[in-house]
Amino acid sequence: MSDKLTATNTLRTTRILSVKTESPTTKTFTLQDRLCAKAKPGQFLMLWIPRVDEIPLSIMNVEGTRVSVTVKAVGDATRTLHQMKSGELVGVRGPFGNSFTETRGRVLMVGGGTGTAPLLFLAKKLAAKAKRLALVIGAKTKTELLFLNQLDALCTEQSTVATTEDGSYGLKCLATEPLGKLLNKEKFDMIYACGPEPMIRQVFTLTEKRQIAMEASLERLMRCGIGLCGSCVIGKYRVCRDGPVFTATQLSEVKDELGISKLGFDGNRIPF
Ligand SMILES: Cc1cc2nc3c(=O)[nH]c(=O)nc-3n(C[C@H](O)[C@H](O)[C@H](O)COP(=O)(O)OP(=O)(O)OC[C@H]3O[C@@H](n4cnc5c(N)ncnc54)[C@H](O)[C@@H]3O)c2cc1C
Ligand code: FES
Repeated sequence: MSDKLTATNTLRTTRILSVKTESPTTKTFTLQDRLCAKAKPGQFLMLWIPRVDEIPLSIMNVEGTRVSVTVKAVGDATRTLHQMKSGELVGVRGPFGNSFTETRGRVLMVGGGTGTAPLLFLAKKLAAKAKRLALVIGAKTKTELLFLNQLDALCTEQSTVATTEDGSYGLKCLATEPLGKLLNKEKFDMIYACGPEPMIRQVFTLTEKRQIAMEASLERLMRCGIGLCGSCVIGKYRVCRDGPVFTATQLSEVKDELGISKLGFDGNRIPF
């Protein structure tokens, strides 16, 4: 193991500096960690929640030596974390994985659920560089459209389309519906996608037909975070080591699995 990986893979205990409620199900936690604060958009960290579990989380922001993650409460570890307050101890490893390439051209981001967190980090980097920065954002309901205002402010004027499944805000449909229409109308140099894998599959299908460059961040079950255990495998790739950001060419190599099935906690294949 290289010295660099040894350092990032060493568990550091640190205190939660602040907790911010983003939605009824989602909170942002800010921690002090010198190594993770050097992360680039797309990278993730492993957060150890004492006595419960260690989980992978995308890095949402870095500032000085501070790093923030935005977490949806879905199970044991994330629900326990949601009960924790500033000053309490957690453990951190990372940053791990690769990052999005930062494109200067006409860029479209497609985000769903907590997938908008790494896109906000990316948008902050792209705002001054990209020729055009547009966004399609989707969620089940209005309160789960995370970071809509911050993202909208970073995008080119009038370039945000929001969708909700229940119609409580924006268009009543899935994010991929207006995406198809937008891609027929406008030319983009790069599409960045982050969200549920079935959504990523649809974005991939739409961009593949039109031969548009795409990068997507994938989420699979992770244990080690450094390419050893195999729990995050998709095709020939290990998401923690080879991703989590994959290009359209790589996604086409794992088309049989993308958004269709993944390994469960017991190692058996389960459908999405
Ligand atoms: C690279 C990466 C980045 C991630 N970034 C974020 C993020 O920024 N914010 C966020 O809220 N979540 C993120 N996740 C998902 C997060 O890791 C899981 O929600 C968490 O591990 C669930 O743990 P739990 O004990 O609360 O739930 P569990 O009891 O373990 O599971 C509850 C439900 O969540 C699903 N789940 C569990 N682990 C994962 C996982 N690793 N990936 C996807 N689904 C999972 C299970 O299938 C189950 O349906 C990310 C996952 C990966 C792989
Ligand atoms: S999490 Fe162990 S190989 Fe990816």
